[in-house]
Amino acid sequence: MAQMNSEAARIGDLARSGERMVERLRRQAFLPDSRKSLEVRFGIAEVASLLGCSTNRIRTAEEDKRLPPPPASEIGRRIGYTISDLLNMREVLDASPVRGPSDDPVIIAVQNFKGGVGKSTVTTHLAHYLAVAGYRVLVVDCDSQATTTTLFGFNPHLYVTQEETLYPYLSIEPTQADLMYAVKETPWPNVHLIPSNLELFDVEYELAASGADGNSVLVTRFRKLKAGLLDLSRNYDVVLLDPPPALGTISLAVMQAANALLIPLAATTPDFCSTVQFLSMMHQVLEQLQSAGVEVSYNFVRLLCSKFDNNDPSHAMVQQIMDSAFGPTLLPVPIFESAEISHAAMRMMTVYELEKPIGSARTHKRCRANMDEALGQIEQLVRKGWGRPLVTNAALIEDAAA
Ligand SMILES: Nc1ncnc2c1ncn2[C@@H]1O[C@H](COP(=O)(O)OP(=O)(O)OP(=O)(O)O)[C@@H](O)[C@H]1O
Ligand SMILES: [Mg+2]
Repeated sequence: MAQMNSEAARIGDLARSGERMVERLRRQAFLPDSRKSLEVRFGIAEVASLLGCSTNRIRTAEEDKRLPPPPASEIGRRIGYTISDLLNMREVLDASPVRGPSDDPVIIAVQNFKGGVGKSTVTTHLAHYLAVAGYRVLVVDCDSQATTTTLFGFNPHLYVTQEETLYPYLSIEPTQADLMYAVKETPWPNVHLIPSNLELFDVEYELAASGADGNSVLVTRFRKLKAGLLDLSRNYDVVLLDPPPALGTISLAVMQAANALLIPLAATTPDFCSTVQFLSMMHQVLEQLQSAGVEVSYNFVRLLCSKFDNNDPSHAMVQQIMDSAFGPTLLPVPIFESAEISHAAMRMMTVYELEKPIGSARTHKRCRANMDEALGQIEQLVRKGWGRPLVTNAALIEDAAA
């Protein structure tokens, strides 16, 4: 066997030491088993605002026993309602936003070939935002880096096997005929996850090794992923796909399987330039797919600025450049760069999972309000597709002005 020098051998030590640290972090963040728990609670005023009703309506339903009694309070502190309580209230009080039988599920690819633009952050936050809003969500981690899987509380190295990822379905020698096997419950009752781990990358290797008939293998996989997701999507309102930051088999298959596209990018010149490259590459790919007889159609395509720093004047300048280049395709409300998001990520969580602020109460509140507003833009696009847009204050003002 060939020798490895001591510096090269150091990489193995680093990997082992890093693995031990990941596991320590995971244990701090989660319960002793492989799942984390969800501790978020909602006060009655927050529930009323989410349901679009008065607190009295909730209290009356509790008195009438249509709803269970309010959660008991600990000494000096109200415990608040859980997400399951909230979902039950939506059912009982007829405030569920789920799609009607004739509305198509929306399958959104959160895609950009540039790495680190916030794809996984947007995917997980959007999933939890939509869950609080009462939708049924499936998240599919299509990236072998498995950031989204980690943010959902699964350690991809220890608790996810290759058999639990998309691999057995997308492999050249598939061992699964549909995707039902891969759907996992998460701490959120209305969010399911198809996890990923490093071994999902074998899908890419297999294609490279398949030689001459690579193209037909590719096209077969595109059709397969689309068919499998379409089949699963019947149980959900929104399916979110988090692909890897590269143009490979899986990214191409995701592009084709989705019926909507959300492109996150930060307000920096390198992100802007890479995104322009991504768009022109995507345009070429879509034309090639079309000429190969593979149909791609999107209900909406939008760009979302995913890390906007209010205190950095260069961000405002790049935002202006993006505005003039992309027009209304760039969603008007960006996600602000916030320590609350990166701190939550350190605990392998989204800001929707924090029971209390990590930083100051003000930072937390600002971050949540901004996240709700930015992601609300996507909820609105989903609902417009179903012909049932949300009536917002802004819409009322627009209507009044018209
Ligand atoms: N709005 C934000 N505020 C603060 N930190 C953020 C924000 N958005 C993303 N981040 C941080 O930026 C880093 C990269 O984000 P993320 O992993 O979501 O990007 P990605 O596009 O999925 O990356 P990859 O290309 O590797 O898949 C993470 O550490 C994340 O916590
Ligand atoms: Mg990612």
